[in-house]
Amino acid sequence: MLILAIESSCDDTAAAVLEPENRVLSSIVSSQNEIHARFGGIVPELASRRHIEMIRPVVDEALRSAGVTLDDVDLVAATRGPGLVGSLLVGFTFAKALALVRGLPCVGVDHMAGHLLSCLLEERQPAFPYTALIVSGGNTSLFAVNDPLTFTRLGRTRDDAAGEAFDKVAKLLDLGYPGGPVISRLAANGNPAAIAFPRARLGDESLDFSFSGLKTSVASHVHNQSGNRQPLAVGDICASFQEAVVDVLVEKTVAAAQRTGHRRVVIGGGVAANPRLRAALAARCASLGLELFMPSPVWCTDNAAMIALAGYYQFLGGQLVEADTDAYSRSPLN
Ligand code: KG4
Repeated sequence: MLILAIESSCDDTAAAVLEPENRVLSSIVSSQNEIHARFGGIVPELASRRHIEMIRPVVDEALRSAGVTLDDVDLVAATRGPGLVGSLLVGFTFAKALALVRGLPCVGVDHMAGHLLSCLLEERQPAFPYTALIVSGGNTSLFAVNDPLTFTRLGRTRDDAAGEAFDKVAKLLDLGYPGGPVISRLAANGNPAAIAFPRARLGDESLDFSFSGLKTSVASHVHNQSGNRQPLAVGDICASFQEAVVDVLVEKTVAAAQRTGHRRVVIGGGVAANPRLRAALAARCASLGLELFMPSPVWCTDNAAMIALAGYYQFLGGQLVEADTDAYSRSPLN
């Protein structure tokens, strides 16, 4: 079976071709970073317009580099939500129209489900059930994943997502967008213990997150240093901020696995590409005898291969969409 998948929930236009038995045949991602960088964040209207320009060439390129044509495709999958509705509508409507014209089945995939299953794109795959941390620009949540279609939320952020905090701190320090990659690069030369930024634990029992206080604390630090005419130790700020985020993510993920009793832990989402988070979580899981599964960085950030895989399971479960099925901005999973 050959699946053509489209992802356009935020600022990347992506398409992929997947043969579930033989894995990913192609995965194309057209980034909009250069469009949004000067605004320090995503401008939704610009994102939608760029998706409209890029959707056709990106789909064509995915088919071409997989060495297939539309005649070979058996199933069309696209992200239905959550995300920016204007962006989602471009990819989802394109997919539904394509399926209608070609007489193909179509599935509308939840972006979170894609991240929750993205580790299954790797050779080394976790068996079900597992506990998963999804940590991206739009979400920071913990889930119990019982099978490819059953996800139970255990906790989520009460305010900013972790990736959003990286992006906002980068904007504050004038480091450009997206913030995660540049902050993690600068943090490598900084001292993670230089500044004692707060860790919001929200009580012993809580598996929820909060990052807005941390962001405010970084802003106050920068403000005070500037007021005192002190030079900003950007590497130390990045390392100390990153450490505060990583500490909480690791602690809550391990607590969630202890709560579910699962022996397998999975991460996904753009922030899961962060080397410090990967190292810290690997060390903690190893010390507790938990098996950790981390997708390669290319499957952490937004991509259509994970949408194809999640779409495949939805197809097997008979979850098809109709031509008039709508996109949604908030995930029912979250
Ligand atoms: O999953 P993703 O591509 O898009 C969303 O669905 O949000 O995640 C993008 C987010 C951005 O906030 C970006 O700053 C963050 O992931 N990110 C990182 C790293 N690479 C990307 N955050 C921390 N460290 C990284 N290396």
